[in-house]
Amino acid sequence: MIIDTHAHYDDEQFDTDRDELLKKMQENGIGVIVNAGSTIESWDKIRRLTEEYPFVYGAVGVHPDETGSLDEAGMAEMERMLDLEKIVAVGEIGLDYYWDNEAHEVQKKWFIRQIELAREKEMPVIIHSREAAADTFEIMKEHAAGMKAVIHCYSYSPEMAREYVKMGYYIGVGGVVTFKNAKKLKEVVEEIPLSSIVLETDCPYLAPEPYRGKRNCSLYLPYVAEKIARIKGVSVEEVVSRTEENSRDLYGLRDN
Ligand code: NI
Repeated sequence: MIIDTHAHYDDEQFDTDRDELLKKMQENGIGVIVNAGSTIESWDKIRRLTEEYPFVYGAVGVHPDETGSLDEAGMAEMERMLDLEKIVAVGEIGLDYYWDNEAHEVQKKWFIRQIELAREKEMPVIIHSREAAADTFEIMKEHAAGMKAVIHCYSYSPEMAREYVKMGYYIGVGGVVTFKNAKKLKEVVEEIPLSSIVLETDCPYLAPEPYRGKRNCSLYLPYVAEKIARIKGVSVEEVVSRTEENSRDLYGLRDN
């Protein structure tokens, strides 16, 4: 089965047809979806999705762009949510110097605090990092050594990817790999082993070709799997089964 390791079905872009869409997933081979958290407000919606759909799991965290709204009460609420059975990770958390919505010191402080909470709870982390390669790497090395992690929507060099692979982390690959101008990501996929790759949509964003620019959803993941298979010279079935295994290891999901 295909596992979508990073989706945002709580997004309002799915308000008109969320249920209809999610009901189609399993018959189309999408066996598990992990819905990542981005704001404190998203967490309750995510909890409800995990209660309504047996194949939907959740993560709670505060995206770097939103860290200005995080405080001790928010951290306490996150800790309570992490005790729920279907909340399987802390994320997405990290650094975003592209949008630069919050001061770097604020982003770093809450990135580290959320990693520390995940460590305490023995849970994996979902990392968002944009134009912040060096600072992200430094913080991961210092604070997340030995933890399970995925570098979601990976956008850096093949060299850095190899370093993360050495640290035991997974690299999240989504629709971008199908884009004509995604030379760097194709190199990354070529160079790292399949045993370090997980599939993701980041939907509603980043739809693969031939849907680029449209609303993304997990049903388009076969296009991503096909592209990875072609780059690595293996069958699509191998990409699907290996990334399933990787995703289960990442999030501690049993086969059921
Ligand atoms: Ni995301």
